[in-house]
Amino acid sequence: MLKLGIIGTNWITEQFIQAALSTKKYQLTSVYSRTEEKAQQVATKYEAGEVFTSLADFFAQGSFDVVYIASPNSLHFEQAKAALEAGKNVIVEKPAFSNPTEMATITALLAKKPQLFLFEGARHVYEPNFQITKQAIQTLDQVQGATLVYMKYSSRYDQVLAGKTPNIFSPKFSGGSLQDLGVYVVYDAVSWFGVPDDVHYFANLLPTGVDGRGTAILTYPGFNVTLIFGKNATSYLPSEIYGLHETLVLAPNAADLAQVTRYQPDGKTVELGEPADENPMTHEAEAFYSMMTTQDHQMANSALKTSQAVNQVLFKLRQSAGIEFAADQGN
Ligand SMILES: NC(=O)c1ccc[n+]([C@@H]2O[C@H](COP(=O)([O-])OP(=O)(O)OC[C@H]3O[C@@H](n4cnc5c(N)ncnc54)[C@H](OP(=O)(O)O)[C@@H]3O)[C@@H](O)[C@H]2O)c1
Repeated sequence: MLKLGIIGTNWITEQFIQAALSTKKYQLTSVYSRTEEKAQQVATKYEAGEVFTSLADFFAQGSFDVVYIASPNSLHFEQAKAALEAGKNVIVEKPAFSNPTEMATITALLAKKPQLFLFEGARHVYEPNFQITKQAIQTLDQVQGATLVYMKYSSRYDQVLAGKTPNIFSPKFSGGSLQDLGVYVVYDAVSWFGVPDDVHYFANLLPTGVDGRGTAILTYPGFNVTLIFGKNATSYLPSEIYGLHETLVLAPNAADLAQVTRYQPDGKTVELGEPADENPMTHEAEAFYSMMTTQDHQMANSALKTSQAVNQVLFKLRQSAGIEFAADQGN
């Protein structure tokens, strides 16, 4: 049983706690929140014994083995750094870090503490249909390209329309649609096709200073991958990966891989996917537990390499659209 600590008390933290507890391999022991009341609320609901409102005390006195960090994006870096320095394993929500400088600092710190693990919570990568898609791509006669879509209207965009800047649409908190939803399709592209030769992002920029939606083109030898993502509109377009004679269709989108369908040369279809779990975070909770308890650093390093590549691609895309974060200062 791994002892779990959490940072952040929004719905996603509860979804992760529920996934972790459902595996029966984690026990929630320690809750950090800026407010005592919120920390106590989560602790009571999930029977955690330790409540903290000071991050320093949380890391110094918390009895947890691994911390799940689900704070605004720009805070991930300092919190993950503090966790590693305190000898804790880390699961940090996507996008793990704001830029390659932060990523390099964390990987250098990890190299000095080789017994510790740091995972990016890219939940869809650990779902069976992600691997099923990867394997199916390898059997396509010749990849001709792909269109990968993940665009969902965010209720927090109502605040932007009202002239406000919620965290997720703020450059101070490393927000925007590329960071929030684009990261899923960048993970798809990097995991399925490798690191692209070149990238370009055509962004719809908001008055808050980040992107509301956009289209990115990733170029590979012999084909392009088009990424369509956003938080100020909703797309019902499935995603497609094109072979010469066959096509894979991912539905409802390239991040929630409920259905993976292969269209054969004769137009007939074969369903490849497995039914998805009710809680999409269960598979990552299982995978992280397995790597930590079997000391599978090889698999963890491979996941970290993908995180680094995704971090680089996100940064280049952002640069191509002229989007700057407070966290980039000094880069
Ligand atoms: N994997 C997924 O499916 C998924 C889904 C949604 C979000 N996420 C990721 O989860 C992370 C959190 O996203 P979110 O939308 O929940 O963010 P959020 O609502 O802006 O903040 C999350 C938590 O961080 C704390 N917080 C908020 N503002 C803060 C501030 N100014 N300073 C310090 N702490 C602050 C709050 O906890 P306290 O008030 O308790 O301190 C809050 O509950 C992001 O990295 C996001 O990308 C992942």
